[in-house]
Amino acid sequence: MIELSEVIKEYAGGVRALRGISLQVADGEQVAIVGPSGSGKTTMLTILGTLERPTSGRVEIEGTAIAEASDPALAGLRAHRIGFVFQSFHLQETMSVLDNVATGMLYMGLPLRERRRIARGALDRVGLSHRVDFRPRTLSGGERQRVAIARAVAKQPAILLADEPTGNLDSRSGAGVLELLHGLGLDGATLVLITHDAAVADTFPRRLHMRDGEIIEDEAA
Ligand SMILES: Nc1ncnc2c1ncn2[C@@H]1O[C@H](COP(=O)(O)OP(=O)(O)O)[C@@H](O)[C@H]1O
Ligand SMILES: [Mg+2]
Repeated sequence: MIELSEVIKEYAGGVRALRGISLQVADGEQVAIVGPSGSGKTTMLTILGTLERPTSGRVEIEGTAIAEASDPALAGLRAHRIGFVFQSFHLQETMSVLDNVATGMLYMGLPLRERRRIARGALDRVGLSHRVDFRPRTLSGGERQRVAIARAVAKQPAILLADEPTGNLDSRSGAGVLELLHGLGLDGATLVLITHDAAVADTFPRRLHMRDGEIIEDEAA
């Protein structure tokens, strides 16, 4: 469960990126956050992902109240319970596709051999069994985003957060990545996907529309 109450996020210089967000997302929900550039979507994701604390207001993720939690507790929550997928993939070019996924589980306390076994399974689920030994740069954009998705889902997170995951892809690869995200089933994980593209948002059963740091519409199909 994700619960935000009157969340305000102000950046240095007085920019108010979130202006009083209240929101509940139940376990296993699939939600798109849609809005124009600068409306606060990425800031929302950093709050949902516990990467930032709010300036004021209450945030509870998976039963953890963010304001009271220590930095190591939040790092543990992120490592074990939250998967991230970003527009620009964030893959490491110095290692194979397999080890990019295996490294994503570094903090789970498993030996490399076991992490690689799980990574192979995750890459199989995203249709990349034939690319495990490749370097990311030799893959297409769509394939690279699939690697990032495999890395995010390998640890079976309770919450999967994706910030414009199709934003760097041509429309065909983007559609493939979206189809993959919807088709994975995600073992009951909550999926929150951020997009500025209404067509992408329309593939989700619940859509939160943002403008100027506020949710202006909470729309369910
Ligand atoms: N680290 C930061 N420091 C200062 N201002 C920021 C920072 N990140 C975002 N902002 C500002 O906050 C507002 C919302 O940004 P953002 O959350 O990135 O929106 P979106 O993802 O919808 O494009 C914008 O006005 C942006 O310039
Ligand atoms: Mg953004």
